[in-house]
Amino acid sequence: MKLTLASLLPVVAVAGRLSQIPFQETPEVEAFQVYQSEYSEHHSLRIKQQQNDSLCDAHSKQYTGWLDVGSKHLFFWYFESQSSPSEDPLVLWLTGGPGGSSMIGMLQENGPCLIDEGGNGTHYNQYGWSKNANLLFIDSPAGVGFSYVDEGIPLPGDSFTTAADLHHFLQIFVGDVFPDLAERDFHITGESYGGHYCPALAAQVVSQNILYPKRQQVNLRSIFVGNAYVSPVDTAFGYWETLCTTNPGVEEPVFNKTRCDIMASNLPRCLDLARLCYAHPDPAICAAGSTVCWDGVIKYYDGESGEGGDRNRFDISTPCKSGDDLCYLEAQWIEEYLNRPEVFEALHVPKAVANYSIYNMNVEYAFELTGDQGISLQPQVLYLLDNGIDVLFYQGNYDLACNTAGNIRWAESMPWKGQPEFVAQPRKTWKHGGKEVGWFKEVKVETAGGRETTFAVTTVDAAGHMVPYDKPEEGLALVNRWISKRSFA
Ligand SMILES: *[C@@H]1O[C@H](CO)[C@@H](O)[C@H](O)[C@H]1NC(C)=O
Ligand SMILES: *[C@@H]1O[C@H](CO)[C@@H](O)[C@H](O)[C@H]1NC(C)=O
Ligand SMILES: *[C@@H]1O[C@H](CO)[C@@H](O)[C@H](O)[C@H]1NC(C)=O
Ligand SMILES: *[C@@H]1O[C@H](CO)[C@@H](O)[C@H](O)[C@H]1NC(C)=O
Repeated sequence: MKLTLASLLPVVAVAGRLSQIPFQETPEVEAFQVYQSEYSEHHSLRIKQQQNDSLCDAHSKQYTGWLDVGSKHLFFWYFESQSSPSEDPLVLWLTGGPGGSSMIGMLQENGPCLIDEGGNGTHYNQYGWSKNANLLFIDSPAGVGFSYVDEGIPLPGDSFTTAADLHHFLQIFVGDVFPDLAERDFHITGESYGGHYCPALAAQVVSQNILYPKRQQVNLRSIFVGNAYVSPVDTAFGYWETLCTTNPGVEEPVFNKTRCDIMASNLPRCLDLARLCYAHPDPAICAAGSTVCWDGVIKYYDGESGEGGDRNRFDISTPCKSGDDLCYLEAQWIEEYLNRPEVFEALHVPKAVANYSIYNMNVEYAFELTGDQGISLQPQVLYLLDNGIDVLFYQGNYDLACNTAGNIRWAESMPWKGQPEFVAQPRKTWKHGGKEVGWFKEVKVETAGGRETTFAVTTVDAAGHMVPYDKPEEGLALVNRWISKRSFA
């Protein structure tokens, strides 16, 4: 077995076996069980069970630890399902950014516990997504949140390197640490820049499963992403509809005619350059595209948000509440909480992480330099559908940063077998508890491999960028429908 119970084995035996593993030098190793990858001496995972619910009243077992991928170290927090851990699927959550900690998702949106006002503790969340699923949060890429890189190692700068690291994580997690999960349905979910992370990771999983059938397979069934940043061109295009019409569900358009005319005049040039970046993803071209789109379209709103004003890019119906780019006070509370000494102690945070930070701007810069923010992940979504992986994009309609209009645009323009039906289908409303939540479109097609594949887009009215935060009950209902029957009908 690859399993090593570090706390039970003589230190000498552990040291002999794991001589290449950097965490060995940290005294904290005693608290963790260590699992060594059978394919690479540079990959291992250290994990500990949280002994009680003092950090998070989860109503189920919880585990924390780090995956060590060579010189990169990825932090995770894993919650067993509150219903039936031995039967429920495994769901991975990735917060966006690039540079945002997945603890934002966990403690502000859909974890089993949420941050208290002021950040002095957490409380149980009755709409947490671990209600019917085994739920895994990872701070990704390395450098974000509690994840870190060794000194002198560059930060990951694109969605594909990030995906390769996470795939290694999943192989060890379901193969060695929780072999029970290996056959279980697995879903990748996330939000915002998760529109890049999730398709990239899913495509990596599918292609690695195909390329290396004898290695640990990851039983991916679907991805579902909230307010996703998939296609920058379409997101920029969607700014006009979101701000200049009542389509998001607002009484009056947010912008007046003068501003809307300026944005509309500037859009063609923005789209031209952004499309050039898709065709030739050279960082210089992509940077030129994003500059023109910013100056001509996006800055009219985003320039007046966060520190530049009181507009909220994540919810056009409310002002920014914090004066920073995230606009939500919870972000500060989470940082406050996770930096508390008792939290550091219970998680066994290594010395290399001096301080927990909710957002790493240097990761965002690293992604900017590679042009990752300018490319579209629509080709990866297409690849998933062709390979029988179900795909859902769900949208809070008040969001501007990753707006509904833009996501519909790339979804309709995607050339695949289900396209004509997807475009032709009328929007149908879906309800929860007798009340209308939003609309959906879903098509089911048989792929070349003979498997039925579902592609769906659904919306949640009166929710912004963070659906589980704005509409927790509807958010959980949405996830349960998708996971249990892949349908909103
Ligand atoms: C944390 O803050 C909340 C609200 O500010 C308060 O009700 C609660 O008693 C505080 N808890 C602790 C442990 O200080
Ligand atoms: C339109 O909105 C902008 C920005 O809020 C404002 O500066 C401008 O005066 C408005 N124009 C008209 C004609 O109302
Ligand atoms: C919970 O576990 C931690 C160790 O992780 C310990 O320090 C703390 O005293 C425990 N709290 C309770 C209430 O048992
Ligand atoms: C830790 O991070 C917080 C928030 O980023 C910051 O305010 C604080 O100064 C940092 N503390 C140290 C010791 O670096």
